[in-house]
Amino acid sequence: MSRPARAFINTAALKHNLNQARQFHPNRKIMAVIKANGYGHGIVAVASALSDADGFGVASLEEAMALRDAGVALPITALEGFFEASELPYFIDHKVQAVIHSAWQVDILEQSGEKGQIDVWVKIDTGMNRLGFPLEEAQSVIDRLRNCDRVGQLALMSHLACADEADSDSTRSQVEKFRQLASETGLPASLANSAGVVAWPETAYDWQRPGIMLYGSSPVAGKSASELNLKPVMTATSALIAVRQQRKGDAVGYGGDWVCPEDMTIGVVAFGYGDGYPRHAGPGTPVLVNGKVATLIGRVSMDMITVDLRTNQDARVGDRVVLWGDGLPIDDVARHADTISYELLCHVTSRVPRIEV
Ligand SMILES: Cc1ncc(COP(=O)(O)O)c(C=O)c1O
Repeated sequence: MSRPARAFINTAALKHNLNQARQFHPNRKIMAVIKANGYGHGIVAVASALSDADGFGVASLEEAMALRDAGVALPITALEGFFEASELPYFIDHKVQAVIHSAWQVDILEQSGEKGQIDVWVKIDTGMNRLGFPLEEAQSVIDRLRNCDRVGQLALMSHLACADEADSDSTRSQVEKFRQLASETGLPASLANSAGVVAWPETAYDWQRPGIMLYGSSPVAGKSASELNLKPVMTATSALIAVRQQRKGDAVGYGGDWVCPEDMTIGVVAFGYGDGYPRHAGPGTPVLVNGKVATLIGRVSMDMITVDLRTNQDARVGDRVVLWGDGLPIDDVARHADTISYELLCHVTSRVPRIEV
């Protein structure tokens, strides 16, 4: 028997979630964000399942090429554009669109002696203060890009910083700045991430850019994935590899800081931080053993976690354990680990086989 850690990828759930995302604004196009190896799910598998999307958003030329090599013909946008001039011919040859966020990228486009053109999203900073041109520079950058031989079609993009909050002055301010710019320039535009799609209808422009909701996690505070009718795509599973009787006072695991409050049964699960389980998940973090909730005890090890089986007395070696996914929302696990679902998904390591179901 091989090590039982697995990540099952439910492609029907991906399709379902894409459909859900579409329902919010049926007439807008969807650029499915599948960067970071499809949020950890496997970029090619995700792109194949999401073939009904209108395009894909990735983080790099390498991710775009992996898709082109797999035969993906839909528009692909590199959300940070190119990182150096030598990438430009590949963008042109493989029809990868580039987000242009800084003046040095415009310089590269203007100075390029390549033949051919790339389609460009000019990124404007409407308040996130991470990437993008300041609003005051928007018009002059757009003029430069319009006059640049290397640039084909031009479109406008900005990114929301706080759309996961139901009531946010900063989102309202971003929305207003973008609205003005979009109407002044008349360019095709894109503003909404998943939280925008779900909770801020005024962020709906020509292209929606949902990411996390496609993978079945809630993008907004105060509403669960199931309330939004989103289905988990990744179910991370393993099995009990030991079931042990401990005495009251026994300390479990590294550091010995979790001490058995009574004589009790504990289980050892073959899934640790070396697989992507969050090391900072605290005691009480839920897992499912044979479909029934048990809780984490002791520190997370590289290859294992330990769980309290006092309420799972039937549990046996070999029993299936779900770390998150079907029956156990990843958002709950993330909260216990003081992190976000995005990080859990992206951190599942390569030694965990992804199995499409
Ligand atoms: C530019 C851009 N657009 C859209 C998204 C998708 O965001 P989310 O996963 O929150 O829907 C991201 C992800 O970080 C992004 O960087």
